[in-house]
Amino acid sequence: MADQQARLSWRDGMLPVSDQFDDPYFSLQNGLLETEHVFLAGNDLPARYAAGFHIAELGFGTGLNMLAAWRAWEQSGQKGALHFTSFEAYPMAVDDMARALQAFPQIMPWAERFLSQWTGGGLCDLGTLRAEVVVADARVSVPEWTGQADAWFLDGFSPAKNPELWQQDLLQAVADHTRSGGTAATYTAAGFVRRGLQEAGFDVDRAPGFGRKRHMTRAVKG
Ligand SMILES: C[S@@+](CC[C@H](N)C(=O)[O-])C[C@H]1O[C@@H](n2cnc3c(N)ncnc32)[C@H](O)[C@@H]1O
Repeated sequence: MADQQARLSWRDGMLPVSDQFDDPYFSLQNGLLETEHVFLAGNDLPARYAAGFHIAELGFGTGLNMLAAWRAWEQSGQKGALHFTSFEAYPMAVDDMARALQAFPQIMPWAERFLSQWTGGGLCDLGTLRAEVVVADARVSVPEWTGQADAWFLDGFSPAKNPELWQQDLLQAVADHTRSGGTAATYTAAGFVRRGLQEAGFDVDRAPGFGRKRHMTRAVKG
């Protein structure tokens, strides 16, 4: 099923919704604030940023999470490259990414720099960002990955609609590719995800969720 382009529709002309998974790519309430709350603050970023910092992600989608992380990296004064590796089975067309990101004017300067170089997969070196999107099913590509992340953004569609991105073998592969003291964060507080992360070797905590979500999950590898 990998190596296919994303099939999507637009809600209110602005919000991309996956036809394959029947789920939106980000919250209509405020996708950028949600990213900053769940994935940046959830991984104690930008406070933990340091030379050579490596973020990995399940589900690249529109690239919003990466762009928010990169903006925070530059704004926090880091000079070298932020390493960002994302695992994506169904990449969005570049035009669709550009259309989706228009909802976030604050991110446009970073979106424009990235999209001017982006060809839809592989490596992209932008000086302060070294991005790689591995286009394949994450259940195969994460176990095969040779890297180690300092922080993970676990951003599959909802566990009910996209259970393959939350299954135990994959959470174990995430833990196996996390440096000691590294972290993971996700918007979901689903019990089986929390237990799965625990079983994989993370210390798991519930934190206040974004918007209408009561809780989210933060995890630290001991
Ligand atoms: C909620 S979206 C990610 C949103 C994204 N992080 C952003 O900033 O826009 C979930 C993503 O997971 C991807 N996905 C679903 N199943 C997958 C799989 N088995 N392997 C890799 N990616 C998958 C989808 O194609 C989709 O892009």
